[in-house]
Amino acid sequence: RRVLLINGPNLNLLGTREPSIYGAETLGDVVKTAKLNGEKLGVTVEDYQSNHEGGIIDRIHQAKKDGVKGIVINPGAYTHTSVAIRDALLGVEIPFIEVHISNVHAREPFRHHSYFSDKAVATIVGLGVKGYEYALDFVATSPKFA
Ligand code: DQA
Repeated sequence: RRVLLINGPNLNLLGTREPSIYGAETLGDVVKTAKLNGEKLGVTVEDYQSNHEGGIIDRIHQAKKDGVKGIVINPGAYTHTSVAIRDALLGVEIPFIEVHISNVHAREPFRHHSYFSDKAVATIVGLGVKGYEYALDFVATSPKFA
């Protein structure tokens, strides 16, 4: 099973960006853990981070061609703005889990709405970078992503 981990804008700054909200682990740490856990679970974890909406859309289209079975996505601030990334996920019909490191519902009102949650298999918010691990574990093992 091939799975894709997508991180949107500013998540390349993990570890240094507002560590009181997002923690001290870097995106490199997150990806390393994800790939190691993927090996244990027998899945291939591919990763992609971009600060550009179009790049994320193109990568989602590519995932369809590659036969990716599930996507774990933290769209960053695009969560609250991007109809285009939502449409890309719906267009390729690859099931996905939405992850947010912080509890977006405990933050500013503009972070409470997501263009993804009603179409996601699940959403994980507020569990820090552990949320990626739980999501990838589920994508690797659930028949929903077979
Ligand atoms: C985030 C929450 C978003 O509101 C914010 O714009 C981010 C990160 C999170 O992981 O908690 O960039 O998606």
